[in-house]
Amino acid sequence: MKMSRTQLYRTLDQADVGEWEALKVLADQSPWRQTFHIQPEAGLLNDPNGFCFFNGEYHLFYQWFPLGTQHGIKYWYHTSSTDLVHWRNQGIGIAPDTIYDSHGAYSGSAIEKDNLLYLMYTGNTRNKDWKRYPFQCMAVMNTQGHISKLPPVIEHVPDGYSDHFRDPKVWQDGEYYYCVIGAQRINHTGCTVMYRSPDLQTWTFQGELQTSLPSFGYMWECPDYFELNQQGILLFSPQGIEPFADSFQNIYQSGYMIGTPLDLNTCEFDHGDFCELDHGFDFYAPQTTLAPDGRRLLVGWLGMPEIDYPTDHQGWAHCLTLPRELTIEHGELRQRPVQELTQLRGQRYHVNHTVDNQHHLLSSIQGAHYEMLVQISDIQATRIGIELCVGNNEKTVLYYQPELEKLTLDRSLSGQPLALEYGTTRSCSLSLDEGTVTLHLFVDTSSIEIFANDGRKVLTARIFPQPDSTGISLFTEDGSACFDVTQWDLLAKEEQ
Ligand code: FRU
Repeated sequence: MKMSRTQLYRTLDQADVGEWEALKVLADQSPWRQTFHIQPEAGLLNDPNGFCFFNGEYHLFYQWFPLGTQHGIKYWYHTSSTDLVHWRNQGIGIAPDTIYDSHGAYSGSAIEKDNLLYLMYTGNTRNKDWKRYPFQCMAVMNTQGHISKLPPVIEHVPDGYSDHFRDPKVWQDGEYYYCVIGAQRINHTGCTVMYRSPDLQTWTFQGELQTSLPSFGYMWECPDYFELNQQGILLFSPQGIEPFADSFQNIYQSGYMIGTPLDLNTCEFDHGDFCELDHGFDFYAPQTTLAPDGRRLLVGWLGMPEIDYPTDHQGWAHCLTLPRELTIEHGELRQRPVQELTQLRGQRYHVNHTVDNQHHLLSSIQGAHYEMLVQISDIQATRIGIELCVGNNEKTVLYYQPELEKLTLDRSLSGQPLALEYGTTRSCSLSLDEGTVTLHLFVDTSSIEIFANDGRKVLTARIFPQPDSTGISLFTEDGSACFDVTQWDLLAKEEQ
């Protein structure tokens, strides 16, 4: 049941008595609640925002519409963690309660200055004719976690750009602060612009990032810029890219370009191809931060805009991905699950088995939420793979074709179907790593994250199996392969 615009733009204090509590009761009964992912108590979660380390803790906010599972008025919801694994719900971070963010506290980022955390975000407003007008707003959080708003810092969209102008990502370089903002030119092509500030309050338009993609989709959302290994990386989520071979299969994309460091004066960015960050079905609007030990960490929205999800009728929608560490190795971006996640490991199981042209259902290993490392070697088959969440007519299949050097995730039989118009398989190229394929998997009640060949490729998806679809099966076709499988139960998180 679709909500009306009036219903979608109600803030929490305009809710009916007991409305939010009823949604929470509904969400609590959902069979697809996650056990080790950040998810909303009820309502809809989308982009990660304000990801940072401040005052001895990680802070991670997310876009949140509390009163339903469609995209309504957005809040920033606040979570924090000392270890990137156990997250504590901290309540509302930013509410859309001023004339500068009346129709949503949209995405943005965080940076520390003088022992305060500055939260720069887009205030989405609409006039009575529903015309959009974006402000770039600023709020500050003190070390007690108290957040207060400052006046907006960028009040106008520069000439040449439409009202699709949002998602500031801020960083510091030397004596200046910079931010990139996702934009749409008036000719309806997407791009990123940059501003500079000496103090986080006064911002000067520096120009548009000069890339080699003058016409690449109609809007670039959630840009992020950082440097790794003396190289510049621009990450963004373009909309309006046509599918091409196995690429760009989702409604919208998220990816990156690696180049020489961005010229902060001329905005020139000399870069390589746009590459997708994730080759699965459900991944969008990621954001990175720098950990105190120098690691570059990334979290994404484990969901997609404009797609109906099976929990939409259960009072909640979406979750965030696990945090990943980014590195550049031999010029290639690698993404690995952060090493802190090993803290969740419980009981360990191990099997080593040669499979020859058959399906082999494991008798000693199964589960609904676990971590698993699968190493496949001595590959003599044309197709090798693993079936997860196997149950009555259900399975989520991951297979590799050595001759094509291709890895495929098939969710056609994963359970409750979704987004069928975008297809039921996703594939990406993957070279053998010294003759082997390594799959590092994180399976939660309703998601799967696959890190292939030590972070060279990642595939992320929501799946909605029956609770008793917990089997795991290994298979090969036209030959044999040797599987080495280690699984860890993941201990459910602390109460949030
Ligand atoms: C991306 C996005 C952002 C915007 C936010 C609103 O999913 O559309 O561009 O700031 O979501 O919730």
